[in-house]
Amino acid sequence: MTDEARWWQRTTIYQVYPRSFADSDGDGIGDLRGVIDRLPVLAELGVGTVWLSPFFASPQEDFGYDISDYTAVAPEYGDVETVRELIEVAHGLGLRVVFDLVMNHTSDQHPWFVESASSRDNPKADWYLWHDGRGRPGRDGRTRRPNNWKAPLDLTSAWQWSPVRRQWFLASFLPFQPDLNWRNPEVREAVFGAARQWLGMGVDGFRLDVFGWIMKDEAFRSNPFRPKLGGGDIVRLWRRDFTENTPDNVRLAKDLRAVVDEFAPPERVLIGEVFGSPDEVHEYLGDDDGLSLTFAFDLLEYRYSARYFRDLIARYEANYAAPRLPAYVLENHDRSRTIDRVGGDEGKARLLATMLLTLRGVPTIYQGQEIATSNTYLPLAGALDPMGRTFLPWMPEWVSRRIAERINRDEVRTPMQWDASRNAGFSTAERTWLPVNPEYPRRNVAAQREDPDSTWRLFQTLIGLRRALPELHDGTLRLLDAGRDVVAYERAHVADDGTIARVVVVLNFGAAPLTWAQAGEVLVASGPGVASTATTTTVPASTGVVLRPV
Ligand code: GLC
Repeated sequence: MTDEARWWQRTTIYQVYPRSFADSDGDGIGDLRGVIDRLPVLAELGVGTVWLSPFFASPQEDFGYDISDYTAVAPEYGDVETVRELIEVAHGLGLRVVFDLVMNHTSDQHPWFVESASSRDNPKADWYLWHDGRGRPGRDGRTRRPNNWKAPLDLTSAWQWSPVRRQWFLASFLPFQPDLNWRNPEVREAVFGAARQWLGMGVDGFRLDVFGWIMKDEAFRSNPFRPKLGGGDIVRLWRRDFTENTPDNVRLAKDLRAVVDEFAPPERVLIGEVFGSPDEVHEYLGDDDGLSLTFAFDLLEYRYSARYFRDLIARYEANYAAPRLPAYVLENHDRSRTIDRVGGDEGKARLLATMLLTLRGVPTIYQGQEIATSNTYLPLAGALDPMGRTFLPWMPEWVSRRIAERINRDEVRTPMQWDASRNAGFSTAERTWLPVNPEYPRRNVAAQREDPDSTWRLFQTLIGLRRALPELHDGTLRLLDAGRDVVAYERAHVADDGTIARVVVVLNFGAAPLTWAQAGEVLVASGPGVASTATTTTVPASTGVVLRPV
């Protein structure tokens, strides 16, 4: 394993959702041995870092994002020894490994919460965010909720009643995920202690689940009412001044950084799942003493238009000047697949992949994205995803499909499509935990590895180029003037001896071919028909190209 400083600035991250990646023991559920077996394929794809969604002990009500022991592994996935082996094998292949740290909440079945909820004066009474209600108790003994803080989608309150304590506890996500009280030093030590266990084992860092929500307002002030339409939340009624991205939360990033720095070298990476505009969330990076990276989530909400991406790139460039870098992401286990967002047009998905892997930023790929897997249509009625189960009864299917494609996250979590054999080569079980996407006989890794024009091969080529060229993994980015339907940028790098290396990326979002007034060697084209003459380059519709200008 190489110990080079700042390795994470040059890496490409690959997100594994362990439950759906590879099932080694035939129970229909993916596991860590399955991940170990498939690591060579990821090394062949060329990615540098593998981020694993949570595999810790959990009742799996939110499939691992509800942890009941931060230091143990859920038995269906393996055990601590398997984790050790996974890290070793990955490092042996030159891969880094990042775990998912869910600090905001635990499962309500975590022994900490069980104890905390048992009375008002137990030793862990203050480990979660308990609060008295307002007003006099009603007939059922309940008081009014302490304030107006909401669960996601702003549909329900974040407060849950405990008849035992006759108090409310905060659960910012779903009711079975109570929020920890991070102002309590014992909580900090307990969770930091678990992080240290994995760091000591050699994990290269953490992806930080809903990191922006952890430190809420100490005075529990209600959020200001201000309705807003559009964006990631579709409708938002309240600002989140007192629950999200608070100054105390930004400080927490520094405390966590100090913990991981105890273990450097190699430097460990902290990647924040933080929501907000780039001018807000870049604060988390501090003066190189906070998080290493924050996901650029605007990309999960994109409109497929050149103008949209030009503006977005400009905003991130302005707020993440070097050495800072955004972490760009088009897909994850919570949101729609790219191909479904672009009307099933694989050419457009390939153009977006070309952009993702040539921007100035750390790219993240979600398992299956490299073969352009589509969402698996699943009836909402049988949803396993607790988001689906909690919020779907509120809306008829046609509404939820239209306004909240992400509401049943099962659709983007179906088993990885490895080959054309039974269950897509994911599992030998009779039944897999979620059904396999029926497209798998045509769309799978094995078939695409054999096909030089496949999307898997395009990802492999782009990742390889990104690794090979300093202008791509280390260079500056300059947006170039281009037509309405075009995003174009130059990536440049000055070597120690003063020579400048340049590539130009031209992305034609339009429906007509483009004549780009620059000739060059075509390093990668996302589709057929790209041709360079002595002075121009033809870029067909919905095609991206990486050029070495001449
Ligand atoms: C994050 C995760 C999501 C999870 C939630 C609660 O948004 O990505 O999958 O359900 O946090 O932990």
